[in-house]
Order: sequence, then structure tokens, then C-alpha cells
Amino acid sequence: MTAAKTILVADDDQSVRTVLTQALKRAGYGVNATGDGATLYKWVANGEGDLVITDVLMPGENGIDLIPKIHGRRPDMKVIVMSAQNALTTAVSAVERGAMDFLPKPFDIDQLLETVGNALRQTRVLVRDDKTPQGTTRAHNKTFIVGQSHAMQNIYRTIAHLTNSDLAVLISGESGTGKEIIARALHEFSRRKNGPFVAVNMAAIPKELIESELFGHEKGAFTGAVQKFEGRFAQGAGGTLFLDEIGDMPMEAQTRLLRVLQEGEFTPVGGRKAVKTDVRIVAATHRDMHRLVADGKFRHDLYHRLNVVPIRIPPLRERREDIPALVQHFVLSSGALKVFATEAVAALRDFPWPGNIRELESLVRRLAALHAYDVIELADVQKELSRLAPPAPDSAAELPRAMNDLVTAHFDAHYGHVAAEGLSGLHDLVVSAVEKPLIEWVLSRTEGNQIKAAAALGINRNTLRVKIRQLGIEVRK
Ligand SMILES: Nc1ncnc2c1ncn2[C@@H]1O[C@H](COP(=O)(O)OP(=O)(O)OP(=O)(O)O)[C@@H](O)[C@H]1O
Ligand SMILES: [Mg+2]
Repeated sequence: MTAAKTILVADDDQSVRTVLTQALKRAGYGVNATGDGATLYKWVANGEGDLVITDVLMPGENGIDLIPKIHGRRPDMKVIVMSAQNALTTAVSAVERGAMDFLPKPFDIDQLLETVGNALRQTRVLVRDDKTPQGTTRAHNKTFIVGQSHAMQNIYRTIAHLTNSDLAVLISGESGTGKEIIARALHEFSRRKNGPFVAVNMAAIPKELIESELFGHEKGAFTGAVQKFEGRFAQGAGGTLFLDEIGDMPMEAQTRLLRVLQEGEFTPVGGRKAVKTDVRIVAATHRDMHRLVADGKFRHDLYHRLNVVPIRIPPLRERREDIPALVQHFVLSSGALKVFATEAVAALRDFPWPGNIRELESLVRRLAALHAYDVIELADVQKELSRLAPPAPDSAAELPRAMNDLVTAHFDAHYGHVAAEGLSGLHDLVVSAVEKPLIEWVLSRTEGNQIKAAAALGINRNTLRVKIRQLGIEVRK
């Protein structure tokens, strides 16, 4: 058996040291733990230890600043940084300074042991990036991402690992969870950050125009092509191309996109010369891509090409601990000098947020703008929340208004950012989506009696019969 590896731990918090030491010893490692960076550095310089796990903020020494010093003495020393601070920038600068990995706090033991095991198996590769001299942080940090939940920390960790990579990323998450903001962060923390970030929303472009939108067209290439258009692939050259709502891409366009990605070049519509692609692809969707692939609505080969690195953003209701910080962030960034009462924040924390962060953001901004006084109370919040989720109406007469509020909030949350052209056929789609379950529900309440159902719906019996047939509703015999 090889000698047990020794892990050097530095954290000024005694309880963290205890938990780490116990877990690592139980897994068979030797452990030396200290509360300060100077001792850690002394151990390293003495040739002790095989791996360092360090906190960031410690009295005297900052764990991240310590990494280059450690590598000055022991270039192959593996360092893992753990922190709950300022998460995205911390994760990125730790990896930039030479950390092998980043562990979010509070950590779970399984993830800790997995990370340690991985780090010990790998050899540290020295990557010199000429454009980023040591000691500088290269992020512009235009995109301010809030959230310390475990899920978000793991996303920061992924972003940090991808700073030197052109791998395709597929971001999935419900509407309003922050897919675009994460896509921007991937760009801003990448070596392409000085290039453009170009976003295209697949759901907002008419089917016939997707190809020319992506790859451009020559003047006169088709009716309506009055001017030459260079296309999004060309616009994004040297930067990142964000393909939003990729799940809505029609089949034909999927085939074309796949070919371009495989061949690394594209030809504008009506053009003759192929142009080399120079974009990093980040795609996003709120749809279940496995389902789309299984149903034959999305090409599996394209899916695998886009989904090289998956990032899943959980819905806000699964990371409620991020809500208070988000509220504060949105108040501050709206420029209003307002404070939310503790109970008001608690109510926001308890709400299920079907429209996720987008919905939370617009509500907080509205409250901050509306109220003249400084403290926003529970009652103010409750009033706004009740507009988002209207209470069950007592009678059918109240239904239209309640539905109207619900539907408006839903559309705001889910389609507020979609250009009108992207909503084509919306009326018929929505009516047919609502009509069938409505009729089925009323029929179940009348136990299949169509005369009573027609009366309840306020429509003619014959109309009901036609609709039952058209919508394929099963009737009881
Ligand atoms: N972690 C976060 N910190 C701060 N702001 C956030 C965060 N996540 C999302 N936001 C904000 O919430 C709003 C919605 O985010 P974004 O547009 O990225 O979501 P999305 O998932 O792309 O939504 P949709 O599916 O509706 O397009 C934006 O204004 C964004 O700035
Ligand atoms: Mg979006």
C-alpha cells in the first residue's frame, strides 16, 4: 500500500477545521490543520503535505493570495480553495491563480472527498495565459450575480473551470431563473471576453428567417432581402454566440446548425464563399431537452454537440436561501433607499415564484418605486403577492378577473422579453390549450351530462358537441 497522503488544511474557523479533519481522517488521509496562512506556508515550504485546502479570508493571509507563493516553493502542489465569499469572483480568481478546484461552503462531505480524490489523482498542469499576467483579475464583472446557495456555488465553480475553454455549454432552467445572466458570465469570465456577446432568441424569429438570421444573406438573396446582412455567427466572431430558447429551433434549422458546427464554416444565404466560424456557443432552454430528443423534436446529435457542459439552474423555490440577498440586490440596484421589513422578506422567501428571479425582480422594483416611505412592510408585500397568485374565487363571476391577473402575471414572467413577432399564433394556441381542459373539467363535474355542461359553460349544446369532436374530448357513454 502506498503511504497515506497528507492534506494541509487552513481555516480560521475552528469548527470547519474539526469537520474537515474528521472527514478526511475517516477517509484515510493524514491531516494537518491550522488557523492561519503563515503556518500553512511554513509547512508547504518545509516540504510537508500533498494537497492544500484553504479558506480565503483568514487573519493575516488571504488564501487566494497565498496560492502563487505556495507554487513559488512547490510548483506541483495541489490547492483547493473553499469559500462562501463573493462567490463567482472568488471561484474565478482562485482558479486563475492556480487552484485546482473550488469548494463552496458550507460543503457537503461527499463533494469534499470527491474533489480531494480527483485533485490527488491529477497532476497540476501549468497553464500560462499570456494575456493575463499573474496578479490581475481579468473579469470585467459587469454581470453581478447574486446567490450563495449550494446550487449557485456549483455553477460558479463550473464557470471558473471554463475560463480558458471554448467548450459548448447548454444552460437549462425554468423561465426567469437567470439563464441569460449565466451565459453572460460565461462570456465575461472567458478568454473571449473582449469579443462580442451576441444573443439570438430562437423562439422570436420566424421559421423562414432563422437561417439568414444566423448565417447572414446577400442583398437580393430572397424576397425582402433588400440589404446584405452579415448574420449572427459573423457578428459574434471572436466572442460568444448565445442561442437562447434552443429547444424551439425548427428541425430544418437544427440540421443546418449541426452541419455548420461540424464543418466549422458557414455560407450566407445566396452567398458563395464559406466563412470560418469563430464563436463559442452557449445555448439555453427552459424545455426538457431529453423529452424533445425522445419525441424526435430535437436532433440527438445536435443536442450532444451543444450539451458538452450542462449547467442546470434550479428554480428559485428550490434555493430560497438566495431570496433575501436577491431582494437586497434589486433594491440597491434600483437606486431606491428602501429597506424591507424582516417579515416582508420572509413572505417573499415563502412565495413559490413560478416566474422565478425575473418575477421577484419586477415585484421588488415595483415596490421600491411605489412606496414613498423607507420601510416596506409585510402588508405591502402581501398586497403585491396577492396580485400574482389571486385567491380562489368564490363564484364563477370572480373568475375572469382572477384569471386575467394570473394570465397577465404569467405572460409577463414567461414572455415579457419575447418580441411580438415571436408570439405568432398566440391567440389560437392559448385558446385551444385552455378550452380542452376547461370543457373536460366541466363535463366531469356534470358527470358527462352535455346539456348541463353547455349551460354551465354558457354555450349552445350543438357548439359543445362540435367542440368535443374537434378537440378530441372523450365522452362517457
Ligand atoms: N443570480 C442572479 N443575480 C442577480 N440577478 C439575477 C440572477 N438571476 C437572474 N437575475 C435577473 O433576473 C432576470 C431574469 O434573468 P434571465 O433573463 O437571465 O433569466 P432567463 O432564465 O434567461 O429567463 P427567460 O427564460 O425568461 O428568458 C434578469 O433581470 C436578471 O438580471
Ligand atoms: Mg432568457
